[in-house]
Amino acid sequence: MKPPIFPGAPRIPSLRSLGLALVAGAELFSGDGARAADTAGGAIRFNRDIRPLLSDNCFSCHGPDKSNRKSGLRLDDPEQPFLPSKSGAIAIVRGNPDKSELVARLYSTDKDDVMPTPGSHKTLTPAQKDLLKRWIEQGAPYEAHWAYITPKRAPVPALKDSARVRNAIDGFIQDALQARGLQPAAEAEPRTLLRRLSLDLTGLPPRPEEVEAFLADRSPNAFEKQVDRLLASPQYGERMAMQWLDVARYADTVGFHGDQNQNAWAYRDYVIDAYNQNKPFDQFTLEQLAGDLLPNPTPSQRVATCFNRLNMMTREGGAQPKEYLAKYATDRIRTVGMAWMGSTLQCAECHDHKFDPFTAKDFYSMGAFFSDVRQWGVYTDYGYSPNPDLKGFTNEYPFPPEIVVESPTLQRRLQSLKKEIAQAAADFRPDPRALDLWKNQSLAFLQKHPAGWESLAPTVTVQPAPPAKGKPAPKAEVPQPASAQEPGYRLEGDRVVFEGKPGGARC
Ligand code: HEC
Ligand code: HEC
Repeated sequence: MKPPIFPGAPRIPSLRSLGLALVAGAELFSGDGARAADTAGGAIRFNRDIRPLLSDNCFSCHGPDKSNRKSGLRLDDPEQPFLPSKSGAIAIVRGNPDKSELVARLYSTDKDDVMPTPGSHKTLTPAQKDLLKRWIEQGAPYEAHWAYITPKRAPVPALKDSARVRNAIDGFIQDALQARGLQPAAEAEPRTLLRRLSLDLTGLPPRPEEVEAFLADRSPNAFEKQVDRLLASPQYGERMAMQWLDVARYADTVGFHGDQNQNAWAYRDYVIDAYNQNKPFDQFTLEQLAGDLLPNPTPSQRVATCFNRLNMMTREGGAQPKEYLAKYATDRIRTVGMAWMGSTLQCAECHDHKFDPFTAKDFYSMGAFFSDVRQWGVYTDYGYSPNPDLKGFTNEYPFPPEIVVESPTLQRRLQSLKKEIAQAAADFRPDPRALDLWKNQSLAFLQKHPAGWESLAPTVTVQPAPPAKGKPAPKAEVPQPASAQEPGYRLEGDRVVFEGKPGGARC
């Protein structure tokens, strides 16, 4: 089975594990930071507890904006606060709050010295000041952006009451609940539980027989068996792929202008399969970013590189190829930044920012990694903008380069049809009388209709109107033929039957 929550090797983060981790995280990370640090066993974390405090209260004057920086002090920098300033004071002395100017400024009662300055209308609570002080006591460690820190398994909190803890994630949730004096809700009844589980793992509700089987299963691991069953179902991959396909901006059409179809479904199937096979995340990454550059790439590894080609593409007359190649490249940089680096690079597309560590130069340097992705700016060969590479390409043609791939679904269907045909041939017992009858009927038909095709004349039925109150029922009106040459009409009881040539009906 696929390891559900804590796999041994890094795997593609599933919605389930991410979702649960985030719930636990949100619980732990919310609040004023001071409490969060307490629940995590006293270890203060820069990204979680300290950076938000400094960012809110200090960075406007001691941050990345050099034109507004006061006293030359940069509290966003992991080195500068530890060096003596022009005045000789050292903002932070590791492990020694009493020698740290920063602490002196937080607690100063002199309005000329206290930080944040009274004019900034920012104040820190006693708990926040204490937190900064303890962080310095603990050595004032800085941390990089979360996306660039290798994830480490957090120690599972030790709990006073661990009756509700069945796995590590429960431990974090119960810890946060206990810290807030909250009682967990009662466990859902089995039908509800299975419904939630099925929707979580496959996006589909359970079938009635699946619910009955679960209710009837009295074994202690009945629930785990359901998890295994759902993880093994092909719908599991489809459900998990949804989020990744959104991040990868998956679409079956090109997005611009005419929004023509593109053949990207093979990539969609690659992603679904990757989840169903529980493909390791590093391989999933490598194949999508550069599967074609691997030694002897398999068709599936080349299909994976469709990730780089899922930008919008144009076939619009008058579009300028180089302009669109630039658009496609920026789309690729944005997507790689968001999908793989957890970083929004896109604001650096046009200009540097005072609070963005990525510069416009970084943005385009990133693009250079992908500048050998072969692609056209405009996918047509119009007379007024000829494109010798794509001779004769119009809306009907694909968006090259494309490769021919085998569809496992079509392969399976082909195999089963072949089997059916072989079976039918084996079962066939000719009946000479039936065969003769069919031959004679067919010959007679072909003699009458040499084209092998008979056009059926329409039959027109006219219903009499319902009788009005107190009046006799009206007779059906028989339409009159326009001329004697035209085929006529015949009354059959209430029905008017027209026997004209096809297309000649008047009704
Ligand atoms: C509105 C602007 C502003 C804000 C916000 C602000 N400061 Fe200051 N800070 C100053 C100015 C101006 C000075 C220089 C004058 C002085 O030393 O009082 C200074 C000086 C300092 C110094 C002394 C630097 C040295 O080398 O002498 C420290 C330490 C300091 N601030 C820490 C902080 C901290 C921590 C925060 C947030 C909790 C903060 N400041 C928020 C404007 C600000
Ligand atoms: C397509 C180009 C482009 C992109 C992408 C872009 N910007 Fe801008 N941005 C501009 C231009 C042009 C200006 C200057 C506008 C003006 O001066 O009227 C500007 C101005 C700004 C300013 C004002 C700067 C100042 O000092 O007054 C901020 C802030 C800003 N952008 C933030 C962002 C953020 C955040 C993002 C990403 C979410 C972003 N920009 C993405 C083109 C862009």
